[in-house]
Amino acid sequence: MPVITNIEDLRRLARRKVPKALFDYVDTGSYDELSYRANSAELKAIRFRQRILIDTGERKLSTTMLGEKVAMPVAIAPTGLAGLIYGDGEMVAARAAEDAGIRYCLSTMSICSIEDIRSATKGPFWFQLYVFRDRAFSEQILARAHAAGCTALFVTVDLPMRGQRHADLKNGLEVPPRLTPRNVFDIATKPAWAMSVLRGKRKTFGNIATFLHQKAQTGALAAGRWAQENYDPTLSWNDIAWMRKVWPGKLVLKGVLDAEDAKKAADHGVDAIVVSNHGGRQLDGAPATIVALPRIADAAGDRIEILFDGGVRSGQDVLKALALGARGCFIGRAHLYGLAAMGGAGVTKALSLIESELRLSMALTGVRDVAEVSRDILFDDYNARLRNV
Ligand code: FNR
Repeated sequence: MPVITNIEDLRRLARRKVPKALFDYVDTGSYDELSYRANSAELKAIRFRQRILIDTGERKLSTTMLGEKVAMPVAIAPTGLAGLIYGDGEMVAARAAEDAGIRYCLSTMSICSIEDIRSATKGPFWFQLYVFRDRAFSEQILARAHAAGCTALFVTVDLPMRGQRHADLKNGLEVPPRLTPRNVFDIATKPAWAMSVLRGKRKTFGNIATFLHQKAQTGALAAGRWAQENYDPTLSWNDIAWMRKVWPGKLVLKGVLDAEDAKKAADHGVDAIVVSNHGGRQLDGAPATIVALPRIADAAGDRIEILFDGGVRSGQDVLKALALGARGCFIGRAHLYGLAAMGGAGVTKALSLIESELRLSMALTGVRDVAEVSRDILFDDYNARLRNV
């Protein structure tokens, strides 16, 4: 077993462990991957101020996200198909999140269902919704999330249609993966993955399978296609009232990248937004999320809670996002690399790497409490750049 010291180590291990089509599903973005690559590159480009002789013997990482106490300002982002990357992957990852004292957000397009996550964990978890054309189905799924004790709903608003990802089309990604002449060798060389996914009880889209079953459209392939054809591109600001009517808990818009939209979200009384470009999987050419974040924080940060994702691979990235106005960060790929590499232990590893790096970087920037982080911890160059753009 190699010594794992960063998320990149987990990524490298993940590549060896899961079939190519699934690794590529995680590891790529849309079209030319400009936004996907920019997310990480722009985070890396930010510099800290190195501060000295500040007593940082005690550092406080615990905080609140959406008013809920969390051990650190990090949550697990909703990602489809995690249960095919590792057997029962969403349950495994949700347990790891609970053990680490942070929140797990379940995707609509998960393999394990809302009820599966409820049975695997004790505490609250969050749910992400893709609004489908069939509003009755969307309401049904929300009723299930509420019954399962989900405290917050994340409505994804950056996917009125699915972005094109070349790798998925070229690899012929299918759910569940099938043995074809093309991938038989690949799958044969990934025995641990095959065992975990075969042992896993769930192999189709857990949240939408029952609905399609009622409509006599069964089978995972039908489910995937149905979803793709049924995302509701007519969703608009007028629907916020509907969301409020059908969801009694906290309401969050996921996929805000523009200051005007952040202000509108605040005007509409939404509880929080996630500054996100869907991990560079939707509008290619959209700005890196960390570049958009400070403008959004300046425009609406005093009226609405701002959460962040995109390119977060380390505790330093978390600290930079906090400095530029985020209350907390979501990690998508960072947890999936861990899950693919080592199952639950890999997710735990990813979280502990981020936690310890955040803790260390706080000491070196002179920060005692994550709630106190501000732009003041960033080197002037970055602030100057922000003012000039
Ligand atoms: C996603 N993302 C996503 N978002 C969402 O709202 N619903 C979903 O089902 C999915 N599915 C999904 C699958 C995979 C493989 C990835 C990588 C991402 C986007 C996700 O929630 C988050 O916005 C990004 O992953 C954040 O970027 P990083 O952390 O992956 O760089």
